[in-house]
Amino acid sequence: MRKPLIAGNWKMFKSLDEAGSFAEDFVPRVSDVTDRDILICPPVVYIQALAQACEGSPVMIGAQNVFWEDQGAYTGEISAGMLKSCGADYTLIGHSERRQYFGETDETVNKRLLAALRGGLIPIVCVGETLEEREAGKTFDVVDTQLRGGLAGIGAAEADTIVIAYEPVWAIGTGKTATPQMAQEVHAWIRTVLTGLFGAAAASEMRILYGGSVKGETIDALMAQSDIDGALVGGASLDAASFERILRFKG
Ligand code: 13P
Repeated sequence: MRKPLIAGNWKMFKSLDEAGSFAEDFVPRVSDVTDRDILICPPVVYIQALAQACEGSPVMIGAQNVFWEDQGAYTGEISAGMLKSCGADYTLIGHSERRQYFGETDETVNKRLLAALRGGLIPIVCVGETLEEREAGKTFDVVDTQLRGGLAGIGAAEADTIVIAYEPVWAIGTGKTATPQMAQEVHAWIRTVLTGLFGAAAASEMRILYGGSVKGETIDALMAQSDIDGALVGGASLDAASFERILRFKG
């Protein structure tokens, strides 16, 4: 069975002090949790400090992005090996904000994915349609293209560690959550695409997270859906109590 994963994406928020205070508050709250994975993806400069603060606890740390080369003259970039050496276990790849503001394409998502796997990080590949695309009836086409492009060259043996995050762009930071039924419909279809790519055994092991305005009030109904294996939480992961409520979803 798939172990649920509740991941917080802090985006570009918090000072170093605020990150430390969060850990002091959050770690004791969740020290008993064993039946679900907990992940925080802070700004990259806090990874090492947070990894140390969360050591020995169930809280794992991830990056928000990773470069596709292992080392070299690439000013400003950070490799998977570097992230791993600072205590990261996961990395987000292809978040819609990176696609929208930083020219991320399915091809660069794929390069980052291969580098993450090479460097021993668990990748969380983000996909999702814009409002315009949904209204034009293109949701499945868009997500299909993102999955096939982003996952190119991956074999069944490596696939089951990869996490997919479905984040409809119109639900991010807007307070508009997809209904559990809308999310389940896309998640089930994503699993069908994954089955076609990697076979039923690998696809049934792969976790598919939902993201977009997830809150304590909406998580239980989302997690009750059979193909929703966790959440990628933005705003509500910045506060220890609200993130704890989300990861203590019922069902
Ligand atoms: P919000 O939860 O703030 O809508 O952000 C979702 C998101 O983009 C997580 O990666």
